[in-house]
Amino acid sequence: MANLKVKYLGTAFANPTVLASGVTGVTASTWKSVVRSGAGGITTKSIWLNEHKGHPNPTIITTEHWMMNAVGLPDAGLNKAVEEIAEYEKDKPAPLIASIVGGNEEEFIKIAEKMATLPIDILEINISCPNVEDEFGLPFACVATDAKRITQAVKKVAGNKPVVIKLSPNVTRITEIAEACAQGGADGFCLINTLGPGLYINLELRMPVLANKVGGISGPAIKPLAVKMVHDVYKATGLPIIGTGGVTTGKDALEMMMAGATLVGMGSAVYYRGIDVFRKVANEISEWCDKNGVKNVEEIIGTVKM
Ligand code: DHB
Repeated sequence: MANLKVKYLGTAFANPTVLASGVTGVTASTWKSVVRSGAGGITTKSIWLNEHKGHPNPTIITTEHWMMNAVGLPDAGLNKAVEEIAEYEKDKPAPLIASIVGGNEEEFIKIAEKMATLPIDILEINISCPNVEDEFGLPFACVATDAKRITQAVKKVAGNKPVVIKLSPNVTRITEIAEACAQGGADGFCLINTLGPGLYINLELRMPVLANKVGGISGPAIKPLAVKMVHDVYKATGLPIIGTGGVTTGKDALEMMMAGATLVGMGSAVYYRGIDVFRKVANEISEWCDKNGVKNVEEIIGTVKM
């Protein structure tokens, strides 16, 4: 049996699959149940400094090839997250990546300062949500100087927590943004966040289906784009990557890893294959490795011949 263990920024993961941010709520019991379903690690839903109300329903559209969502990053705020992280720590079954989000630099700093004191393994900085533009303007991940400024500010207060920047695909050259973050001190990247926003219209009503009108696109249709961007960022920066975007099978996960990802995030896949998609994908990775003489899955990272 192939060894599926991977090390990411100093933390050991039992297998490369991690729950992507935004899929389940911020509670220790849901994180633990996802680990029981085979996930090698957990990323929290994005945590705000204060309570943040999401968008009204409907918030999600699902189709065979893609999903669209505009949940609006609802969250109970930092104090609640601190309680849940403490609860998870009691009999912690797998590494925890805390995703944080803010409307401005000061908010990011305040949350990161607190996170530096908590038993989390990695800090993921969500500067790429496409659905809060009305509130906050263009995402920081879409402007290189903003992306670098937030990275620097967070790194200054994050103590010994590795800082991973969640990148947006909705840019002309993602490597430019990644390089700016690397100059700002980023330790790694998670990419891609959702594509878009997109628009889906109800013909009879002549109206958008989502209450927010537009939403971020995820699911199998965006995977080839995500794999290409992971490869571009891996080549440009050499920093370790959590590859996310449409991964639903072991083959998808292996593609992400060959492109340069160390860990593979899954979100929409839970809709397509159920919560135990993590175990299914890990088993599929293992089968492929056994068939192809790969003893340690880490060996395949970044090995695509281009
Ligand atoms: C939302 C947040 C995201 O980061 C994303 O990619 C899509 C949707 C949201 O909560 O609306």
